[in-house]
Amino acid sequence: MKAIQFDRLGGAEVLKLVETAIPEVRPGTVLVKNHAIGVNFADTLFRQGQYAMAPKLPDTPGFESAGVIEKVGDGVGAELRLGMRVAAIGVQAYAEYSLARASTVIPLPDFVSFEEGAAFPIQVLTAWHLLHSCHQTRAGETVVVHSAAGGVGLSAIQIAKAAGARVIGTVSSESKASLAREYGADEVINYATSDFSAEVMKLTGRRGADLVLDAVGKPTFEKGLACLAPMGHLVLYGRAGGPPEPLNVFRLFEKSTKVSGFMLNQAHTGAERWRRGIDDSFRLMKEGKLRLLIGKTFPLANAAEAHRFMESRASVGKLILKP
Ligand SMILES: NC(=O)c1ccc[n+]([C@@H]2O[C@H](COP(=O)([O-])OP(=O)(O)OC[C@H]3O[C@@H](n4cnc5c(N)ncnc54)[C@H](OP(=O)(O)O)[C@@H]3O)[C@@H](O)[C@H]2O)c1
Repeated sequence: MKAIQFDRLGGAEVLKLVETAIPEVRPGTVLVKNHAIGVNFADTLFRQGQYAMAPKLPDTPGFESAGVIEKVGDGVGAELRLGMRVAAIGVQAYAEYSLARASTVIPLPDFVSFEEGAAFPIQVLTAWHLLHSCHQTRAGETVVVHSAAGGVGLSAIQIAKAAGARVIGTVSSESKASLAREYGADEVINYATSDFSAEVMKLTGRRGADLVLDAVGKPTFEKGLACLAPMGHLVLYGRAGGPPEPLNVFRLFEKSTKVSGFMLNQAHTGAERWRRGIDDSFRLMKEGKLRLLIGKTFPLANAAEAHRFMESRASVGKLILKP
């Protein structure tokens, strides 16, 4: 099969198309013939050896895909069958076939395409759990969504709106601002040209935001704390702009605020809440309240180009690789 491999850490140029063996299905896993593969910002960190999970060189990037179950390993329950359309979280997904543990496989409803399926597991479920597991977002709350035109960002805007929140998005360009508005943001701030913290205070009548969703890190963390409302909550779930400075927890006394971290992981949420996130997100999609934007599709062979595009900050919505 064809797969993307890298044998050293580095820039996008280390990603090469290779011919390799189809993985052997193992007990408790299924083999998926991929129709669409999701590109995540995390893949660019993984390629550089800066992700929570270190690559074992030579390695293949990719944490999610959608396709058809080609083989079912021993011990997998009857709910996963040959030929089923599924999305899955796994490893080494930049390939024509990939393995996934049965617990991370998500059967796709008919109204969800393979491209939407590949856009779903990581970005949509991250947005859902940020808003409904890390925080219990309530109607009338003000939520700040950073990098609002990105994959997680556009989902977070819509899931927060569906919960009745007021959403303030931040983005780095005017075209991204229009897109974030189109997907439901009530207000959008260009954080490349203005001080988002001061703007949020102005927009909230100096009260501040109830929730700040921050995956940018260093450039946004301190300013995010400064524009929290009393009892407000900042969730740090990424570091696209570099890791923030260490936090002096006494800062939290000033307005009785809290900071938490989030990593999408079924073991953290528990199986029941994981299921709820999937069902609720599909329901929102069916009701037309959650639209997944496929920003650009690349042939698998052009994975390096997809990484460069994501790192350039020019991408919007989800980037997909097609095997
Ligand atoms: N904790 C978790 O489990 C989890 C799960 C999924 C994603 N994440 C994190 O969530 C964030 C969004 O992920 P995504 O896959 O949906 O990507 P994305 O938002 O589609 O793309 C990344 C965005 O980050 C923003 N950004 C800010 N500073 C940047 C910089 N120095 N270089 C590049 N981009 C920068 C850019 O938006 P602007 O130009 O508008 O600033 C860029 O478009 C990432 O940080 C990712 O690691 C975390």
